[in-house]
Amino acid sequence: DGVRVKIPASTANLGPGFDTLGMALSLYAWIEMKEAEQTVFHLYGDEMQGIPRDKSNLLYQVAQQVFERAGVQVPELEISMFSDIPLTRGLGSSATAIVGALAAANALIGSPLSKAELFDMATGIEDHPDNVGASLYGGIITAIWDGVHAECIRFDPPEDLEVLVVVPDFELQTSEARKVLPDHISRKDAVYNVSRASFLVGALASGRLDLIGKAMSDRLHQPYRAPLIPGMTRILEEAGNHGALGVALSGAGPTLLALVDRQQSRKNELEAFLLNTMRAEGINASAKW
Ligand code: HSE
Repeated sequence: DGVRVKIPASTANLGPGFDTLGMALSLYAWIEMKEAEQTVFHLYGDEMQGIPRDKSNLLYQVAQQVFERAGVQVPELEISMFSDIPLTRGLGSSATAIVGALAAANALIGSPLSKAELFDMATGIEDHPDNVGASLYGGIITAIWDGVHAECIRFDPPEDLEVLVVVPDFELQTSEARKVLPDHISRKDAVYNVSRASFLVGALASGRLDLIGKAMSDRLHQPYRAPLIPGMTRILEEAGNHGALGVALSGAGPTLLALVDRQQSRKNELEAFLLNTMRAEGINASAKW
């Protein structure tokens, strides 16, 4: 009588594609939802501590938006969630919760809302489409949003593309990491980003792993966020010398993302370079492939 959904974490921006590009990761959360006499939460996993267990809970709130939009009433819910996704680290954990709650609530009432409607709702709640798009559609996505409707194109990642994320042991709120961004940028920087974001989509969609490095740089957000993440500047500059195809801040950070060719053999070297560079700045981090 209940439903269960499995939702991937995501990495947003991929460097130049601020609020535009996203990719699902093989790191997951599971949400179960059923009607109940009284609302109750079961939240499992180290990452779930400190999450509210009353009706202020995001999962509950999001589910109610689905029921409202579909014109049905399900006031009391039993909600269970298990997550392996580190919170407030730039791995889209909030997008995972939003997409999971939307998908579970919709399934619970017989799926009256389309995936496109869920994407619109998710983007409105999150305020940018890149993480929720990747969590909802999987693979790599490129998204547009006009403030009401969001739309995305999804494609499979190149077969030999492998991902390393290095997750620092400190949290960074997305809102804080957005506050440091300038309201205006020069035309030169705008062109720099448009060209690289477009080039990156072309490289990823056509499987040209060799071109990823040239495309994965950014002047829209990373330079402004770098002071918030010790070691980031050095990692962006030098990871290419240690076997990364390209490297970027994952979403709003503080996690760093490296793209790697599965066929190459310098994985240990790259991982050690990233971890040691952060450690030299006094930051402990963990690596996930
Ligand atoms: N595109 C968003 C940002 C992602 O960079 O602020 C946040 O997860």
